[in-house]
Amino acid sequence: MHGARFILAAATLSVGLLAATGQMFGGGQAFAAGEAAATGQVVPPQDVKIKDNAVMASLTGKPGDVAAGRKYFVDKKLGNCLACHADKDLSKQLFHGNVGPTLDNVASRWKPEQLRAILVNAKAVFGPQTVMPGFYSLEVGKNVRKDLVGKTILSADQVEGIVAYLSTLK
Ligand code: HEC
Repeated sequence: MHGARFILAAATLSVGLLAATGQMFGGGQAFAAGEAAATGQVVPPQDVKIKDNAVMASLTGKPGDVAAGRKYFVDKKLGNCLACHADKDLSKQLFHGNVGPTLDNVASRWKPEQLRAILVNAKAVFGPQTVMPGFYSLEVGKNVRKDLVGKTILSADQVEGIVAYLSTLK
């Protein structure tokens, strides 16, 4: 009887411990998520300020992911940047366009905050005649499809990824 009670007690104890560690991890994750939300505030497109051809702060409050940005750059449904721009890094990809300049060494021509401004709203940097779309702007033209009103082509996170990728092209 003694033994059984001991086992029971031990089992209760370990269940208690498991619950405690569970809480510890659960609590830790919740804290991390809360912290990410606090430091990773996304700037909505209507609040982005382009000054002197630059947007100084990251749109997500965090640095972008280079590898992800490279994918968005190529993705026809997202940036589709290759439709108009070539770059040596991606010379194996098909269907390069040359409407826009090649982006080789683009990071030695533009600082990251300027690249961010070009991506957010190319018209603000190159003038209203440019054919390059504004990727994080609500000023996309007059005859916008209803389902696209109020939306941007890229998310803040995607813009930051592409800025990070372009910044590696030195
Ligand atoms: C419809 C064609 C088109 C698309 C799509 C396009 N661009 Fe452009 N881009 C241009 C043109 C044209 C210019 C040159 C500026 C001008 O005179 O209009 C340019 C200029 C640039 C510049 C400055 C280059 C330099 O060397 O000065 C960068 C950086 C750039 N684009 C990045 C991008 C990225 C990143 C994407 C995808 C998210 C993209 N562009 C999509 C047409 C395009």
